[in-house]
Amino acid sequence: MKQALVTGGANGIGRGIVLHLLDAGWRVWALDRDAAGLAALPDHPALHPLDADVADERAVAGAIARIDALSLLVANAGRADPVTGPVETLSLDAWQDRIGTNLTGTFLTVKHCVPLLRRAAGAIVTLSSTRARMSEPDCEAYAATKGGIEALTQALAVSLGPEIRVNGIAPGWIVTGDPADLRPVDHSQHPAGRAGRPEDVARAVAYLAEAGFLTGQILTLDGGMTRKMTYAPERALVIGASGGIGAALAAGLDRRGLAVTALSRSADGLDLTDEEAIRAALDALDHPFDRVVVATGALTSTRPAPEKSLADLGADELIAQIRLNALGPALVLKHLKRHVPRDRRWVFAALSARVGSIGDNFLGGWYSYRTSKAALNSLLHGAAVELARNRRQAIVACLHPGTVATAFTEGYDHDKVGPERAAERLIDVIEGLEPHQSGGFFDYSGQEIPW
Ligand SMILES: NC(=O)c1ccc[n+]([C@@H]2O[C@H](COP(=O)([O-])OP(=O)(O)OC[C@H]3O[C@@H](n4cnc5c(N)ncnc54)[C@H](OP(=O)(O)O)[C@@H]3O)[C@@H](O)[C@H]2O)c1
Repeated sequence: MKQALVTGGANGIGRGIVLHLLDAGWRVWALDRDAAGLAALPDHPALHPLDADVADERAVAGAIARIDALSLLVANAGRADPVTGPVETLSLDAWQDRIGTNLTGTFLTVKHCVPLLRRAAGAIVTLSSTRARMSEPDCEAYAATKGGIEALTQALAVSLGPEIRVNGIAPGWIVTGDPADLRPVDHSQHPAGRAGRPEDVARAVAYLAEAGFLTGQILTLDGGMTRKMTYAPERALVIGASGGIGAALAAGLDRRGLAVTALSRSADGLDLTDEEAIRAALDALDHPFDRVVVATGALTSTRPAPEKSLADLGADELIAQIRLNALGPALVLKHLKRHVPRDRRWVFAALSARVGSIGDNFLGGWYSYRTSKAALNSLLHGAAVELARNRRQAIVACLHPGTVATAFTEGYDHDKVGPERAAERLIDVIEGLEPHQSGGFFDYSGQEIPW
């Protein structure tokens, strides 16, 4: 039976490698300074825990002395939390702690395993990180250890060949905590469609253990992230993000990689019937945004249900509905106008409703709601004409979302689509609109609705 030593084998990626090698029929020595973590590994006749700190040479030599034969060393132990703070305040102790565990620990385990590995013509796999070659601020100590491991790997390959092959793996984002903590965009930004898992690293280790002509190489295992051109993401502002459709629009735009700012009345006090609140909320933001979606609105303002006949019509409801559904989104546009970029595509979309179409009204009733949406359409159409004069790439659109299952349609018996699906369709429309369509009234499939 082939034997492997995996350092840092009690948790995270190391644990994944230990379990994978056991499944593949290896006898595995799992070395870690976390004795409780070692004890929590599953009971397996081919698993042997070694309690030692890789930064302590005496402990490493003592642990490895218990191993009789070895074909694979996986030098995985390391402190994985990369941020150590600003370099001006990084203490020598913190620096040496990282160097000691990550880099010196790799050197010490290699040093004491070499005699065993020479006898078996074995392989060494070191663990680097994509952070050896790309950085966030304040990760100097971690980055230096991983850069050191890559250089050490290459030097070892030359010194220890032909008996021992030495390669490294540079993982990107590997999820070792609760996968439920990740947002959809955390996965979708990877060209491979997802963040990595410990099993991905384990499979790469198993490959490197067998890859007889490969030595001195670092295998980048990052779902394609370091091959991706990155610019600052486009930005979206969603107003009414507490609503059924608004929340789904914010989540959908986020899934598509936009940086989303979400505002609402209930979470931020942004009441669209209060122009001063609109002005203050927009002034407090960092502009410009590339997409602005207004998803606020109500079916009624002062009545329990929309009017059924002329007998129900009155000023209070009509004026309140126009104030909320028509004037509110138009005032948002009024206070955004000075932030509309002149040099690139910009979309402002407000949720209207097909029932606001005059040409499409064959049922009557719902006077105030219909009129407020017709007024919204008219206001935004006029604003689109005004904007087009000097912002040629600006697009203003009134969108009908379909009949969507939200608080808004509770109690109405109608075929409804879920908010996520509705949001996806609306975002498709928003992303597909062209400047010559600005000022139009469109449904969720991009079809124009008659005024
Ligand atoms: N659902 C449908 O089938 C359907 C169909 C056609 C058109 N629409 C249109 O789609 C839009 C959103 O509908 P929905 O289904 O998502 O409704 P919803 O779940 O009831 O959400 C309504 C949103 O409007 C916000 N809002 C209401 N009054 C406001 C005010 N004075 N100031 C600021 N925000 C206010 C609410 O904010 P708070 O909760 O934070 O107060 C909430 O975010 C509406 O314009 C509606 O006319 C919906």
